[in-house]
Amino acid sequence: MIFTRTKALKGTVTVPGDKSISHRSIMFGALAKGTTRVTNFLRGADCLSTIDCFRKMGIEIEETPREILVHGKGLHGLSAPSSVLDVGNSGTTTRLICGILSGQSFDSQLDGDDSIRTRPMKRIIDPLSQMGAHIESLKDNGCAPLKISGSPLHGIHYTSPVASAQVKSCLLLAGLYADSPVSVTEPSLSRNHSEIMLRHFGADLKTEGTTVTIQPGPDLHAQEIRVPGDISSAAYFIAAGLIVPGSEILIQHVGINPTRDGLLRVCREMGADLTLLNEHWDNGEPYADILVKSSSLHGTEVGGAVIPTLIDELPVVAALACFADGTTVIRDAQELKVKESNRIDVMAENLRAMGADITATDDGMVIRGGRPLHGAVIDSHLDHRIAMTFAVTALAADGETRILGADCVNISYPGFYEDLRSLNAN
Ligand code: S3P
Repeated sequence: MIFTRTKALKGTVTVPGDKSISHRSIMFGALAKGTTRVTNFLRGADCLSTIDCFRKMGIEIEETPREILVHGKGLHGLSAPSSVLDVGNSGTTTRLICGILSGQSFDSQLDGDDSIRTRPMKRIIDPLSQMGAHIESLKDNGCAPLKISGSPLHGIHYTSPVASAQVKSCLLLAGLYADSPVSVTEPSLSRNHSEIMLRHFGADLKTEGTTVTIQPGPDLHAQEIRVPGDISSAAYFIAAGLIVPGSEILIQHVGINPTRDGLLRVCREMGADLTLLNEHWDNGEPYADILVKSSSLHGTEVGGAVIPTLIDELPVVAALACFADGTTVIRDAQELKVKESNRIDVMAENLRAMGADITATDDGMVIRGGRPLHGAVIDSHLDHRIAMTFAVTALAADGETRILGADCVNISYPGFYEDLRSLNAN
């Protein structure tokens, strides 16, 4: 797919439902008693993998154009899958489902695509094993394919070396099946959608600072869930609006949970003109419409506790930094190396191809902004967030940018290119 410099972007977009919340609505709905109704569910490939896995375990899930109905069977209602669970490209499906599968009375296997087969699973295998789980990495490399033998689980207090909502959520889900409470302490707070939504379903959780504790097994009850727009998808329109001169974009109904809003904070530090309108709460999650106006940006330092709150938006921050005066330093972000691609190396390689002055470091990047960018051939490495970041970067660069593997945006944002075009983008 080819992109070129565009005139001012103007208009309104409504980004699809939040990926993290969509996954959880299916999983928790499956473990609850009764029918959970989900609106604004993200029909991206990752969340469809989650639906597919739960259908294979006997959960009836109806899809209509307006909503998803999950006919939950309670904590002990899943049945043994008759074939290998296919998690596709989805790290969230893999890690959260392992917490659930560990406590079942049946055995299961899961596998995914080439990218999933390289993503580290030891971070969940280790603590789950401490709880009594039996998980085997079938290639003995700490990655999928995985075989999970259902086992009795015990409570633990786990101090996680990484701030990861996937690790935390995996252990909380396993905790529903344990014989005593499970606590997880993380180095800084990662996204807390599991905690918010599990409480709505009736689970007993307590949060104190960066520690969350779940009590085993009260019955979960079906809920009505309205999924907010995904701030990680809104990020591309925020970036486009900021870097294309004369732009003004309104992005509607975006989830602005403080464990996810780091991009807004960092953009403001860089001088961005962002206004939040129509702020409100629904299902325990805060929302706003975000008005973005093109802005002159300056470099900043991004590190520490803000990192987990914008981990998926760091490719966009790196791109924005190229259009900012001065130097931007991103540190404490070594997690970027183990996402759908190695996002430190892939961002450095592709931004350099467009003429940027960028150095990859062990835990982030240093970008010296202000050099004009030019078109290039961009290898997305089939990473959806890389493809979307460069589609937007190309709109403020000279010449033609060709994105290889551009279809991978279907993972999290199937209508992305149409929405971008609706704002007049080339
Ligand atoms: C997610 C958590 C994050 C994020 C991923 C979705 C989730 O991963 O990068 O896209 O839904 O819990 P980590 O928990 O590994 O940081």
